[in-house]
Amino acid sequence: MQRNTVVDEIKSRCNIVDVIGRVVPLKKSGSNYKGVCPFHSEKTPSFVVSEQKQIYTCFGCGAGGDVIEFVQRYYNLDFMQAIEKLAAEYSIDINQGMFRRDEKKDRLYEINREAASYFYETFTSSANAGYAYMQKRGIEPRILKRFGIGYADSKWDSLYQHLKRKGYDEKTLLELGLISYSKGKYYDKFRNRVMFPIINTRGSVIGFGGRAVGDDSPKYLNSPESAVFLKKNNLYGLNLTKQEIGKENCAILVEGYMDVISLYQAGIKNVSASLGTALTENQAALLKRYTNKVILSYDADSAGRAAALRGLDILYALDINVKVLHVTDGKDPDEFVKKNGKEAFLALTKKALSYADYKIEHIKREKDLSTTDGRLEFLKEAVGVLRMLSPSGADLYIKKIASEMKISEGAIRMELYGNEVSGGMHAFSDIGRQTGSENKSEKIKENSVTALEKHLIKIVLTDVSYYHKVAAYSYFFAGSPAGLIWEAIKASYKEGEELSVPQVREKLENTEQDILDDILENTMVAGYEQQVYEDSIKKIELHELTKREQEIKVLLSLADESENGDKIRELTEELMEIQKMISEQGGSQQ
Ligand code: UTP
Ligand code: MN
Repeated sequence: MQRNTVVDEIKSRCNIVDVIGRVVPLKKSGSNYKGVCPFHSEKTPSFVVSEQKQIYTCFGCGAGGDVIEFVQRYYNLDFMQAIEKLAAEYSIDINQGMFRRDEKKDRLYEINREAASYFYETFTSSANAGYAYMQKRGIEPRILKRFGIGYADSKWDSLYQHLKRKGYDEKTLLELGLISYSKGKYYDKFRNRVMFPIINTRGSVIGFGGRAVGDDSPKYLNSPESAVFLKKNNLYGLNLTKQEIGKENCAILVEGYMDVISLYQAGIKNVSASLGTALTENQAALLKRYTNKVILSYDADSAGRAAALRGLDILYALDINVKVLHVTDGKDPDEFVKKNGKEAFLALTKKALSYADYKIEHIKREKDLSTTDGRLEFLKEAVGVLRMLSPSGADLYIKKIASEMKISEGAIRMELYGNEVSGGMHAFSDIGRQTGSENKSEKIKENSVTALEKHLIKIVLTDVSYYHKVAAYSYFFAGSPAGLIWEAIKASYKEGEELSVPQVREKLENTEQDILDDILENTMVAGYEQQVYEDSIKKIELHELTKREQEIKVLLSLADESENGDKIRELTEELMEIQKMISEQGGSQQ
């Protein structure tokens, strides 16, 4: 059976209510089932299983997924193991085709395991530079054993000779990056290095990191990517720590091998490291199998900060509750915990900054808050962060920023919701908008099309001679569903300098088609095109003035009277002029 067929078969045969019901007492509640969540401690049940949708969700801790994901998480299994378990229980035959174990990969795992044993033997059987080095770094024997730490000696071909004796061929050893070939000879890739086996969550040795004992470069030499080692899919230490991460419902993510080992030795066992690369989406998804809380604890240097900012976005996008801490003493968690101990580190985790706090702190650090321009830049970028939050989250931060930065709440709100305050016109929402438009606050108004937009569209569809006139104002549609309709009109017009409604319609998705139909049916302009057009343009111009008015008000609220006198005067003049124009045009219309 093909992999997808097997997955489908399992999903259709293993009723989720059945599977979960065996381990979690479930009660019928409406069309769903309810129980006490097995993934966090709670008294009132917020764990819901939908038979119809074949999914589970916990409203308390956010856990959720299909039957396979439940089994993975509950029994702490990886995907294949969960499939195997369910298949065995429901007598589903999966041992055909693609689901058969991959013999080639099994051989690669076997060789890696053999190499790990060899390094471990070398490390433990007699005195060597690697052992001495790890002693110097304060790692206890039981921890070294736990992590399977080994030593690659400084002779040129110990491992190669060993594996050759075991009958493994050079081609495969080269593929795994255990040996190299040069000038007609094979030699060991790792020499005079402390060896950290990298083990996946199923317990297979997939590669190695080798720490130079001396000053050799690179400091850490890692196995190359191979059929069994994809850095982007794996995390160091997770094989040993996944249980603890699940139990604590929190993962501490660090940069280095030694950070993992030192924290673990100190008794902080819910820890893991990305493999010397920036955190990837797959690694984040892997962590999410065990927890929805992650604390990033990268090095205290600028590279660590940059990595934390990237990691934040990746984890946040997966709906993981992510926080950041930087150690306050020493360059990394390893140094910190050795110096200050477990409790001090735990205290830092309690003070770790949330997504918004960390990002806003970062923006603050980057801007010169003593200047008006700096404060304006801060505000604009901070508002970009607020846009990623839920409305209640944003509200909290508006208050916080307002009091810390001595900016009025109104000014921040104006930056954040400016256009909505002035009547919900998308075209004017670009104050301070600099990044992606795929954010939460924007989705809220996704389905609204203003009367003005409807009028403009209807005019063009009624009388094509208005096309160029309206096109001059088409920026007005940006960010609105009306924009998509305008794009269709534009494309249609370009095809033949005329417009047919069916032609426009067929370029649209269902939602926009509905909006178009609504406009065609309910927006009346026939006979009054010119009047409606002039009226619309006036409104647009009025809104542009209103937008600039708001912008100036924000600027004024940020300016420092003692330092920015000239600027304030200049802005005030502009403001008065604009306000005069607004009142001439008939005042602020809503
Ligand atoms: P660091 O340079 O921060 O090392 O790299 P460290 O943690 O302080 O190491 P020690 O304490 O001096 O032994 C962090 C991680 O980046 C990867 C490794 O995974 C390392 O643990 N790295 C670093 C490499 O892969 N290669 C390198 O040359 C350096
Ligand atoms: Mn480090």
